[in-house]
Amino acid sequence: MSPGRQPGRMEPTPQHERVDLPALVDREGVLADLARVIADAWASFDNPRISEPELDAELIERLGAALPGPPGDAEEALADAARVLDASVSPSRPLYLAYIGSTGLEIGVLASALAVTYDPNLAVAAGGADLVEEQSLRWVAEFVGFPFAEGAFTSGGMTSNLTALVAAREQAVPGARRDGLGGRRLALYCSVEAHHSVVRAAETCGIGSAWVRGIGLDEHRRMRRAELAAAIDADREAGVTPVAVIATAGTTLTGAVDPLDQLADVCEPRSVWLHVDGAYGLPAAAAPSAAPLFAGLSRVDSATIDAHKWLGVQKSCSVVLLRRGGALEAAFGHEERYMLHEHATTNPVDRTLEYSRPLNSLRLWMAFRVHGADQFRAWIEQTLEHARELAQLIEAHDEFELLYEPQLSTVCFRHLPGDSAADELDRHNLELAEAMQRDGRIYLAPAVVDDRACLRVTFVNFRTAAESVPRVLDVAAELGRILAPRRSGRRPQTRGS
Ligand SMILES: Cc1ncc(COP(=O)(O)O)c(C=O)c1O
Repeated sequence: MSPGRQPGRMEPTPQHERVDLPALVDREGVLADLARVIADAWASFDNPRISEPELDAELIERLGAALPGPPGDAEEALADAARVLDASVSPSRPLYLAYIGSTGLEIGVLASALAVTYDPNLAVAAGGADLVEEQSLRWVAEFVGFPFAEGAFTSGGMTSNLTALVAAREQAVPGARRDGLGGRRLALYCSVEAHHSVVRAAETCGIGSAWVRGIGLDEHRRMRRAELAAAIDADREAGVTPVAVIATAGTTLTGAVDPLDQLADVCEPRSVWLHVDGAYGLPAAAAPSAAPLFAGLSRVDSATIDAHKWLGVQKSCSVVLLRRGGALEAAFGHEERYMLHEHATTNPVDRTLEYSRPLNSLRLWMAFRVHGADQFRAWIEQTLEHARELAQLIEAHDEFELLYEPQLSTVCFRHLPGDSAADELDRHNLELAEAMQRDGRIYLAPAVVDDRACLRVTFVNFRTAAESVPRVLDVAAELGRILAPRRSGRRPQTRGS
């Protein structure tokens, strides 16, 4: 370090002088600081926090400041960033049970740092990184029992679904990517509780959201096979081309798994592409207690899995898998003067929707290397067990109502404060979800199931301990009792009253 230089500070660049390489002045020092920040964060994830920190006024003011002109201090920037993130909602905390989070496995942090350090671009041949990506695809397919031929890591479940559906569209209407649809009417089929990404994919790839056929649910909230078959046949009769059926393996709202075998029985004789949106639920196919729900997975054409949900790694890390080779290249292959096919080999970007792609697969690759498939299976089983346990506690509790029997790890339930009317109950449960998010001890989400507002919990975080499961109801009852009489003017009930 030159005399007078302060550790971590970027030196100002006087005009007309040589411009230094953009290295940090004290990079080992800053790296050691970062290691401490990360280790502190990991320690704070070990146990639930009783309250969330708030940002101080000075930091809030700095967050409103204008773009800095001169160089600043890396250590100060790091310290501010660490405080901002500590005061942000992190799905890695053990009682973050809202939406569909993740565990934020520690090994994923190390893999992320390493991957972005080298920053390979998976759009083009990247050497060893290509082998890691390929092995990760094979491993994740093997883990869930999918007969893999080709696939890609993408930026999320939305993009994985869209990638598969663009491939399906090109198969259903060969040449559509070049000629457009020319007035042809195409349709997609999914259950009425499929994720909105299916609608968005229909909008994006020219099918149109009006042509997404929402198929009704059976008593287990799964797509009805006979209704699907009738919808496809009626469309064909009317000159509409079916592009794909999108089964959901773990709906976002309730975790229901569509009957893959039955849907394959519909799709195979009709030559309709069957895609499984397993962004949330497909990892449970590896858990012995849930595996039977996924019977038929080996018959589907393509599948989406978000490793950044139930496989515990950080965003973004999603996978699209295809059972037969060639469909991705048929949909995305191209040659440009800046992207030549050397020696008749294609580029990775000939099989993906996205161009520049980071080595996000390294997170999953390192997680499988370090924890092994057995540990993942046990973790997933444990989260499934948390859901069963919570459902039992709800059923045994006279202040709560379970809205359906959970198939995977999502539980929707209502707090019932006395003899409230239905609309009062809806309002109460939405306010309770908000109150719980503000309180922060148990971070869950509001939802609406069968027109009933409720509290929704999804167990995908491997840090959630079994002893914490009853706390969900303890905190919901405590805050629910405070809210209910405030609205009705009654005095708070005490526990057991
Ligand atoms: C079933 C399902 N599909 C797709 C998505 C979208 O995934 P992403 O947010 O990774 O794009 C989600 C998100 O929760 C989901 O639950």
